[in-house]
This record gives sequence, structure tokens and C-alpha cells, in this order.
Amino acid sequence: MGPLFYLREIMQEIETLESELLSEISNAKDLNALEAVRISSLGKKGRLSLMMRGLGKMAPEERQTVAPKLNLMKQVVTDAIENAKHALNTAALEAKLTAERLDVTLPVRPEQEGRIHPISQVMDEITEIFADMGFTIAEGPDIEDDFHNFTALNIPEEHPARQMHDTFYLPEKADGSRQVLRTHTSPVQIRTMLNSEPPHRIIAPGRTFRCDSDQTHTPMFNQIEGLVIDKTSHMGHLKGVLKEFCRAFFEVDDVEMRFRPSYFPFTEPSAEMDIRCTFAGDHIKIGEGDDWMEILGCGMINPRVLAHCGLDPNEYQGFAWGMGIDRIAMLKYGIPDLRAFFDSDLRWLKHYGFVPMNIPTLGGGLSR
Ligand code: DAH
Repeated sequence: MGPLFYLREIMQEIETLESELLSEISNAKDLNALEAVRISSLGKKGRLSLMMRGLGKMAPEERQTVAPKLNLMKQVVTDAIENAKHALNTAALEAKLTAERLDVTLPVRPEQEGRIHPISQVMDEITEIFADMGFTIAEGPDIEDDFHNFTALNIPEEHPARQMHDTFYLPEKADGSRQVLRTHTSPVQIRTMLNSEPPHRIIAPGRTFRCDSDQTHTPMFNQIEGLVIDKTSHMGHLKGVLKEFCRAFFEVDDVEMRFRPSYFPFTEPSAEMDIRCTFAGDHIKIGEGDDWMEILGCGMINPRVLAHCGLDPNEYQGFAWGMGIDRIAMLKYGIPDLRAFFDSDLRWLKHYGFVPMNIPTLGGGLSR
């Protein structure tokens, strides 16, 4: 065999290998198959690599012809693999996008729908009722200072009402003062009167805290505060507002109410309001029967509170009330155990919760 013949044979071999590799590349069905082709051609012991290594053994004049041919082929194969890889990746993404297509306009499946917690529901109901009467919503912080939670509400340092509140205190500051977790929503009255001009007509729903825990008390609970300040509002208006609220909230035509004299440092006179009801087993009927159920505290704003807020008691007057939300939610919806409200038990929520789209409205009904 002459050297020329030998050379021609090598060139032939290279061409054959090139066309074999290119067809293997174009036949690779996925990235793994493509990678196998790459290793078997360009890998350390790949067919192309072995041929390149063979260059060293060739005579210089042979190498001059074979080396460029091999290099060119290496480039062609490398490019072909890159292109194939890109095409496979694009195809894989396309397939994924098609397979995972999601129609976001489809309606939610009812069994997968979340539920509104009864407390949120009741807050929405109460808000709807008072908004309709012209009240706006006010808010205050969960962490209060002594002035807003106590002093401005006419509960000075030595007042026994401070003990009654079972207050959670935060650690003492450098100046000796201690902040508290608000024990009631009444400090929002103070914030409202200090931060804006009368007349005021607000409700303030929110979390409140007392160091107390048993069957009917939880350390965190919810209250709603109401406040009206102007120059003419009196006890008769207070009764009218609360009567309207009870009728709307309990969804009955009439509710008999009873105001019992009571004491709160921030109101004078003060009262507690009961509604007529009857207990039948663990169910309660509102508006009929021989029992009375206390649902809130209220009264005319104490002149000292007005003065603390920079309002002249000879010019301004008004009323306020405060009510536990959790208890009236239990009452309205026949929920037996207060603590379940805060257990985050999904089965409980599924049973007692509300469908999100049924937003309470006075026109459409509060609870549907
Ligand atoms: N803050 C009182 C409490 O938590 C409830 C209360 C009573 C609020 C009378 C009022 C009110 O605004 O006038 O026990």
C-alpha cells in the first residue's frame, strides 16, 4: 500500500465518521441521547478524539492534510451538537408549556375554596351596618402606651380598674415607663379625638389582650368600639343606634333591650346593655323568651376624657360603646367553644366558615 492510498483511506474514514456522527446527532431524541453522542465522539475516548490523537503518529506531510480536515470536522460536529441541544431545549419547554397550560378564567372548584373565619365575617357584618349609619372605621395599634390605654380614659395610676384589666406589660423602658398590649379598643377613642376635629362618628374593631384564659376567656380576643362626638348627641341617640344595630345584626324585626346602670371610668352615666333572649339547649333565640344576655358596655363620654383630649366639655358631648366580637359571633352562629376560634383547625373552619364571595350587605343580606 502506497502512502497516497493510505492517505485517501484516512480522508475517507473521516468523511464517513462525520456523516455518521451528524446523523446520530440529528437522531438524538432527547438531551441524554445527545450527551451520549457527544461523549462517544468528542469525549476523552471518543471516536473523533482518538483520531486526533493519531495525528501524532503520522508523517508530517500526511498530518498537514489530515489535521485541518479533522479540525474542521470537530468544529462541524461541535456546532451540530450545540444546535441540536438548543432545539431539544426549546422543544422541551414548548412541551412543558403545553402540558401545564392553565386556564385562569375557569371558576374555582367549590370544594377547594377557602372559608372566611366567623370573626372576619362578623366584623364585616358590623362594619356594613355602621357604615350604613354614617360611621367610618378608625384603627389604633395593638401595643399602646399607658396614657392612651388608661390615663386619658380617666383610669389614673392608682385606679382599681387597672387591676381588673389583667394587663400584659412590655419590659420597662429607660424612663421607667412600660407599654402595654391594649386591654380594650377604647384607646382608639382617644387617638380619634386627639388626631382630628369633631364631629366624630367612628367604629374601631380590633384585637385586644388580657392575661386571662379559661373556657370563656382567651388571652387575645376581639372588640369593637363606637364613638360619637358632637354638640348635641345624647343617651337617646345612643339607644337608637344600638337598637338599629341589634335588629340588623341579629336579623330580626325587633329586639327588646335593657339598659342597666353600670360603671366605667370613661363614661358618665354608664350602662350595660342586655338583649332579650331564650336559651334552648345550646341554641339561643334573640328577641324572645325570659332570659337576658349582656352584650355591651356604653355611656356618655365622661367630661374628664373630653378634657384629656383637648375638647371643651361645655361645648362637646357624645357617647361610646364597647362590645366583644367573639361572643356575639358565637351567639349568632351557634358556636359552642370560644377557644376553637383560635385553634386554626381547617375542619372547624370548613364547618363554621363563610363562602368568600358572599360579602355581607344590608340589601343582599348579612349572612347567607
Ligand atoms: N372598654 C370597656 C371594656 O373593655 C368596654 C366599654 C364600656 C367601652 C363602655 C366603651 C364604653 O366605649 O362606653 O370592658
